[in-house]
Amino acid sequence: MKRDERVVAAALGVSILAALTLFVVYVRGGNPQAEGALLALALGGVGIGLLVWAKRLMPHIRDETQPRSKTAPATEADREAAVETMESGVEEIRRRRFLSRMLIGAAGALGLAALIPIRSLGRSPGDSLVHTKWTPGARLVTAEGTPVTESTLETGSFTTVFPEGFEGSADSQAVLIRVEPDQLQLPPDRIAGAPDGLVAYSKICTHAGCPLGLYLAATHELRCPCHQSTFDVLDGARPVYGPAPKPLPQLPIEIADDGSLRALGDFSDPVGPGFWEQA
Ligand code: FES
Repeated sequence: MKRDERVVAAALGVSILAALTLFVVYVRGGNPQAEGALLALALGGVGIGLLVWAKRLMPHIRDETQPRSKTAPATEADREAAVETMESGVEEIRRRRFLSRMLIGAAGALGLAALIPIRSLGRSPGDSLVHTKWTPGARLVTAEGTPVTESTLETGSFTTVFPEGFEGSADSQAVLIRVEPDQLQLPPDRIAGAPDGLVAYSKICTHAGCPLGLYLAATHELRCPCHQSTFDVLDGARPVYGPAPKPLPQLPIEIADDGSLRALGDFSDPVGPGFWEQA
């Protein structure tokens, strides 16, 4: 085997070993530093192998033309040289076949290692990106778990609410605001979910997901502290300023017989910034 062929074989061998070891390290619990080094060896081995193969072992073909009229019959020496060349070529073909198998082995080992990221993706999120913990009948409570009633808020004030039993749930947090009932300009199918001027919206900004923290009672606007997106509370939390692309989803609520506030269902739309299934 020529020196260049030995280099290719060694590089591909290192790649195979590194890729297989990477797989074993991951399956046995993982080690980010070791995995990074092994991945570099696996990819580097294939890269060096292919580079040397292409530069040193591939035949450099040139176009050569010999006029037919000047072709002389082959001499005995020419025939012997041709036979010798063909016989030496058989050995070379055998060596190249070995290198080809090494290359296929390296690609297979790398493919095995490539399964690792797929396993790391974890379980499918299902519909958890679309639905929150709000269900019909869920009681509105504060972060401390105190039930919110129709008399908790005065006109012009607001508070943060959660579904009972899920206090602190990041995607379920909502802001409950009390305005004068006749000021609300909600669509007909939404107005029933805002009884007596009590209207609730998702607290997660539709721009980049910051929690909304400021209610401007004079202008009836909710403002995001991150990039100042501003939402019109009276008009379905429509964005009136800033980068937020869409309104805050509304949480439909009702006043129960005992005066507590309860959800009629989940938010009107998926909460937070847009993702791949949203506009
Ligand atoms: S996250 Fe609210 S404006 Fe950017």
